Amino acid sequence: MSLGLVDAEALAALHDRINICTSCRLHETRTRAVPGDGPVTARIMAVGEAPGENEDRTGRPFVGAAGQLLTRLLQSIGLDRQDIYICNVLKCRPPGNRDPEPDEVSSCAHFLDEQVALIRPDVILLLGRHAVGRLLPGMPGISRIHGQRVRRGDRLYVPLFHPAAALYNASLLRTLEEDMQRVRGYLDDAEAERERQRKDEEQEAARAAAVRAADEQLTLF
Ligand code: URA
Repeated sequence: MSLGLVDAEALAALHDRINICTSCRLHETRTRAVPGDGPVTARIMAVGEAPGENEDRTGRPFVGAAGQLLTRLLQSIGLDRQDIYICNVLKCRPPGNRDPEPDEVSSCAHFLDEQVALIRPDVILLLGRHAVGRLLPGMPGISRIHGQRVRRGDRLYVPLFHPAAALYNASLLRTLEEDMQRVRGYLDDAEAERERQRKDEEQEAARAAAVRAADEQLTLF
């Protein structure tokens, strides 16, 4: 079985576990849990706060107005939503869309950690302060760091304002659109770096082959 298939099955099994989770009080009021959506092979992951009403009804993340804006923002930088893995810090809707409680965030935390470990994305877009607090604890507030790239090992994190906050705030929407253009730049930089590395490796392999060939010539005499 290919590795991709194993990973896809592991992700499906993780979604199954999320769907039946009863670890915190939110399972009592949810209609459906919302594990996440997208291919296990995604190189980019987007993490929001928690399901809202539409997500709770459908079991899919970002399907309401904020989701439509997210889809449009991704399209604006040439990304297809289908290629991105999208999920939330909390997998169940807080009643009335209230803020997540700290104990809810901690009892759900292992699910997001498992999603990141399985997908191993190159880039994680952090949509809103709850996603930033969860995956980049100790960083300054989102108003200070939005649009910046934060490198942790091989992975890039980009804190962004939450699309829902930009829905009814024209200036925040402009900022979010500008930040998305920066994301495009970060992706282009990462692609150029990968290409540089590939060429370096190619040159190194050619050099090693030339040295081997010269050694073999010498042993002929
Ligand atoms: N807001 C979120 O943070 N997540 C969703 O899935 C929908 C709206």
